[in-house]
Amino acid sequence: MTGTGDGICRGRVVVVTGAGRGLGRAHALAYAAEGAKVVVNDLGVGLDGKPGAGSPAQQVVDEIRAAGGEAVAHGGDIATSEGAASLVAAALDTFGRLDTLVNNAGFLRDRMLVNLDEDDWDAVMRVHLKGHFLPLRHAAAHWRAEAKAGRRPDARVVNTSSGAGLLGSVGQGNYSAAKAGIVGLTLVAAAEMGRYGVQVNAIAPAARTRMTEATFAETMAAPENGFDAMAPENVSPLVVWLGSSASAGVTGRVFGAEAGRITVMEGWRPGPTADKGARWTPAEAGEATLKLLAESEPPQPVYGA
Ligand SMILES: NC(=O)c1ccc[n+]([C@@H]2O[C@H](COP(=O)([O-])OP(=O)(O)OC[C@H]3O[C@@H](n4cnc5c(N)ncnc54)[C@H](O)[C@@H]3O)[C@@H](O)[C@H]2O)c1
Repeated sequence: MTGTGDGICRGRVVVVTGAGRGLGRAHALAYAAEGAKVVVNDLGVGLDGKPGAGSPAQQVVDEIRAAGGEAVAHGGDIATSEGAASLVAAALDTFGRLDTLVNNAGFLRDRMLVNLDEDDWDAVMRVHLKGHFLPLRHAAAHWRAEAKAGRRPDARVVNTSSGAGLLGSVGQGNYSAAKAGIVGLTLVAAAEMGRYGVQVNAIAPAARTRMTEATFAETMAAPENGFDAMAPENVSPLVVWLGSSASAGVTGRVFGAEAGRITVMEGWRPGPTADKGARWTPAEAGEATLKLLAESEPPQPVYGA
């Protein structure tokens, strides 16, 4: 890390949620290495969202500062309006501006649907979906005010979806629904916020963090030598570019990011279609649908199916 401020994010102020460990930490360090001033948010919860031993955000701030960069810690809960508002305020009060928001914080409560408690549904929907909406909402209000005051922002939002949200994942009904919701939110935010100079994209990452190192131990393991494909640091370069002014014109898109691979995810679009020009009977609808299915691409498999 240079921390000298001569990279592609020089002069930008970047907020990263859940940046005390895992992917968020890697993003925060990578932004600082490209010259950004970083607000490092983390509530410091356990893998299931239950209270942890305290926020690891300050450690990441210390690492950035030790390398010559600028950062400040924020320990609030991003799924509360107060936490999200104070996160945006931390950027403005400390560094005088806000250019990029990376929504990344989250946790898991994996269960088969038949065993999934209402609490586990609510907690996961809350941290991912509301935890994306609220910081976005508060940042958007700031950027709209800037645009209306004649200071058009060159702002960026990077949201964090997941392959589970795009393709489905057995045992993760709550998480898959929340991560699919984040894609819908991304599309709407990109369409609504473009007029204020804000671009909004999402990534579906995969990397070795406490979220994956036990469940997918073999895939995630670091090799003894050679490219450590599943290191979280491999996801961050795309996130940094999307959060920089260099990504001008790219908005409303979803990218797969893992190891050395970047993938443009191509989403729902109309496939084979039939129009009777009048109401079908159920039997006719069935016959037509089976014909259309035979002409269509088979769906991608659900993870773990
Ligand atoms: N690791 C992967 O392969 C993978 C794959 C797909 C998606 N993701 C997503 O990437 C993001 C980061 O995950 P990770 O693997 O680095 O996990 P992680 O557990 O290492 O990091 C998540 C961080 O978010 C923090 N956090 C949780 N709730 C919070 C809240 N309410 N407010 C503030 N901070 C909070 C936690 O304390 C933790 O430090 C998550 O959204 C996750 O769903 C990860």
